[in-house]
Amino acid sequence: MGNPRVAVIGGSGVYEQSFMDNEQEIKVETRFGAAILKKGQYRGRTVFFMARHGGGHTLPPHLINYRANIAALKKLNVDAVIATAAVGSLHRQVTPGSRVIIDQFIDFTKQRPLTFYEGEEGFVVHTDFSEPYCPEVRAAVIKAGLSLGQNIIDGGCYLCTEGPRFETPAEIKMFMNWGVDVVGMTNVPEVTLAREAGLCYATIALPTNYAAGVSELPLTQDEVLKAMEKDSPELEKLIAATVAAINPGFYCLCREGGNNYPKEQ
Ligand code: HPA
Repeated sequence: MGNPRVAVIGGSGVYEQSFMDNEQEIKVETRFGAAILKKGQYRGRTVFFMARHGGGHTLPPHLINYRANIAALKKLNVDAVIATAAVGSLHRQVTPGSRVIIDQFIDFTKQRPLTFYEGEEGFVVHTDFSEPYCPEVRAAVIKAGLSLGQNIIDGGCYLCTEGPRFETPAEIKMFMNWGVDVVGMTNVPEVTLAREAGLCYATIALPTNYAAGVSELPLTQDEVLKAMEKDSPELEKLIAATVAAINPGFYCLCREGGNNYPKEQ
């Protein structure tokens, strides 16, 4: 791999990236359906942008076509994926405005298509998740964020709920006992499919609120979107700097995860 081809998957409140030059909209057909993306350039690198919830935030977390999204990135020969995810924070000291560069996840989803491997291959595929997020892409986010003076937290455990409701305080209390740091609704199966496809993938978790019961106030979607909107210029700077910070020609084990991924998709 020479210059890496980088994709950004924008979560709630992240619907475009203004640093991209020569932007054009593209549609990619996959066997799971179509994905709409923007293609552009940044500092000589090809960059793709995908709004996870659709352009106008129309798709709820449990109905996102994660397989089409990741299959489309694979078809575009993407090397590295930088995803953003609004999250609730389980710790008072992990404040809104910080960026948790998560390194573990717990899957608490219930009914989403969760794999590319449904047995049609004629064999069973079990994928290694000893290191769930790409160390190279994580390192690039951390380096970029620190150089910008942003509040970067290196490592954290993300728990993915099914949503679309927020959690109960009892659930959050249980998650705390499990060692969870942040809670959200979209990272699974995005992270697992990325690994199954052999893509290098990292997530910038963005605390927009304290989780239920940590905050005494009711949670609202509006507060999540307002926090994301406020953060958006700084977040764009972080994403642009990360795109530039990914080492050309890097190698890591993520690609091995895609060894069984069908060639012609
Ligand atoms: N819970 C789940 N998902 C979220 C939250 C939350 O508190 N905040 C932003 N996304």
